[in-house]
Amino acid sequence: MSATERVVGWESPSNIALVKYWGKHGNQLPMNPSLSFTLKNSVVRLKARYFPGNSDSSILQEFTLNGSQNQKFLNRIESFLQSQKLRYPFLNTISIDIESQSTFPHSAGIASSAAAFSALALVLETLNDTFGKKSSSQQEFFRKASYSARLGSGSACRSVYGGYTVWGSTPAVTNASDDYAIQIDSNDIHPVFDNIHDAILIADAGEKAVSSSQGHNLMQNHPYRNSRIIQAGKNLETLLYALKTGEEQLFVEIVENEALTLHGLMMTSNPGYVLMKPNTLLMIEKIREFRLQTGVNMCFTLDAGPNIHLIYFDKDKRIVREWIENNMKSLCCNESWIDDGLGEGPIPLTF
Ligand code: PMV
Repeated sequence: MSATERVVGWESPSNIALVKYWGKHGNQLPMNPSLSFTLKNSVVRLKARYFPGNSDSSILQEFTLNGSQNQKFLNRIESFLQSQKLRYPFLNTISIDIESQSTFPHSAGIASSAAAFSALALVLETLNDTFGKKSSSQQEFFRKASYSARLGSGSACRSVYGGYTVWGSTPAVTNASDDYAIQIDSNDIHPVFDNIHDAILIADAGEKAVSSSQGHNLMQNHPYRNSRIIQAGKNLETLLYALKTGEEQLFVEIVENEALTLHGLMMTSNPGYVLMKPNTLLMIEKIREFRLQTGVNMCFTLDAGPNIHLIYFDKDKRIVREWIENNMKSLCCNESWIDDGLGEGPIPLTF
C-alpha cells in the first residue's frame, strides 16, 4: 500500500422480503411498504482502496467480483457514485478501486445487488465520517447508509441492519419511512422467529428474462396497482401481528400470499411474463403436501426469480433438513441448495 492509499471495507448480507416491494416512483421510492429479514451466509465483502485525486472524471477505476473484472457492475457503480457527489462531496477528490467477493455459489441465479449496494453505502458513509460531517450516533450512521443504499438498489436499504426490517411509510410502524429502512424492535419479535431458517432451493440458475427494474416499471400502469398497495399495507400489518404474537400459521399464510402475489403481478403485467420454472411449481406442491402431512409450519417465498426460499423454524430444523436432502435436493439445479437463515447484519472489515 502506498502512503497515500487507504482501504475501507464492509461485509454485508443479502435479505429476503416477506412482504414484497414491487413498483416504485420518484427517485427509488417504494410504491408500498415492505418487510424482510437479513440473511446470514449470503454476503458480499467489499473492499475499497481510495487515492487522492481524480485523474479523469471517473471515480471508480477498477472493479472486480470474485477476482474477475466485471464491466457491467463497474458501469452501474460508477453511475451510482457520480449521482452521489452532492451527498458525498469527497467523491470529487478521490478515485476508488473496488474488490468484491460474494459467497453465493457461482451462477446460483441469486441477485447480489442488495448485499453489494448495502456494503458500498456503508463504505461511503464510513468515508463520510472521515471527510465530511461525522454521524452523531450509530443510528444516524446506519440510517444515512440505508438512504444511500436505497438509491443504488431499492431492497439494499433493508440490508444495512440485522434481524427484521421495514422499508416504506406505513401507519403500522412509527418512524417507518420511504427514504430508508428501519429495524423492527426485537421486543416485537416472538422467540419462535429467532433463528428462523431460509433454505434457498435453486430451481434454475439461468439469467432472468425480465429484470427487476423492468418489473418495477410495469407496475406504473398495472391494472391491479391500487389494490396491490392496499393489500401490501394489510399484509404488512398482519405479518407484524404474527411476528409479535408468534402465530406461525398466520405467518405462513401471509408469506406465501405475498410470494404468489408478486408472481401474479408479473403474469398480469402488460406484457405479462413468468419467472417461475417447472421445478419451482413442483417444489411449491411438495412443500404444501409436506406441511399438510406433517403439520410442520414451513413455507415458501420467492424473489423476482424462479428459486424457492423455504422458510422454517429452528425447532423443525432436523426434520426439514432431512426432508430437503431426501426429497428436494434432486429437484435443485446441480442438486444445489443454500443453507441460510436470519443474520445479524453487516460487519466492518479490518485490514
Ligand atoms: O431492489 P430491487 O430493485 O432489486 O427489487 C427487489 C424486489 C423484490 O426482491 C422482488 C422484492 C423485495 O422487496 O426485495
